[in-house]
Amino acid sequence: MEEKREKMKKFESPPKVLKNFFNKEEINDFLDLYKKLPTTVHNKKQNVIKKRWLQGYSEKLEKLFSDRLKSEIGEFKMDNLQDDNGKDIYGLIQESYSPIGLHVDAGFNPENLVYKQTLIPLTPVGSTVIFKNRFYGGSTSFTLDKEELKKKNLSYGQNKRSSEHINLYGEKPFDKKIHEKYLTHENIENLKGLEVEFIYEWEVGSMLIFDRSHLHCSSSVIEGKKIGIATFTKK
Ligand SMILES: [Fe+2]
Repeated sequence: MEEKREKMKKFESPPKVLKNFFNKEEINDFLDLYKKLPTTVHNKKQNVIKKRWLQGYSEKLEKLFSDRLKSEIGEFKMDNLQDDNGKDIYGLIQESYSPIGLHVDAGFNPENLVYKQTLIPLTPVGSTVIFKNRFYGGSTSFTLDKEELKKKNLSYGQNKRSSEHINLYGEKPFDKKIHEKYLTHENIENLKGLEVEFIYEWEVGSMLIFDRSHLHCSSSVIEGKKIGIATFTKK
């Protein structure tokens, strides 16, 4: 575990925003792909639609995305879940009407050396808050909600729930102004000890790359709905 963490640390770098990474036509291709893909989850209560970026729906976008990402982060493998036929999924596309809570996408297989993740916004209004704080113990949603913490029967690809972050990053209360502006959907106590590294203001055509060990969440700023594609890599 220690050794793995040391290796991961060597690959760490600050979050990076690539402006004008995709042109209008390419963004429209992504939106078409989103329309074509089958829905995986439609949670009417949380008002969220999730689709997996399955292979074979747009070979053009698969190649374009991998080639461009490689030119930014060097050699990588996609670290994704597999579909029912054992094929790797490229990423997850989410259409949401309410913000996603604090979590880390640090992976589902402890054998893997997780690397960078990317976020491609397909709608203009939204922001994503990346914290300085890191976690190396697998994909986890961090919460103080007792009902959430009781959830143990998780399905394939669901984050484990935990409150262990509360003891990891110190006692400093979270910045009240940032909480009020960006994170009203989070209990401020749940953010204790956290510090903001970077706030990514969504801009269509740009892409965010950041280390998979960073805690992050969406901001509470949403106008109607937002659609974004998340992808995950390993070394
Ligand atoms: Fe995430």
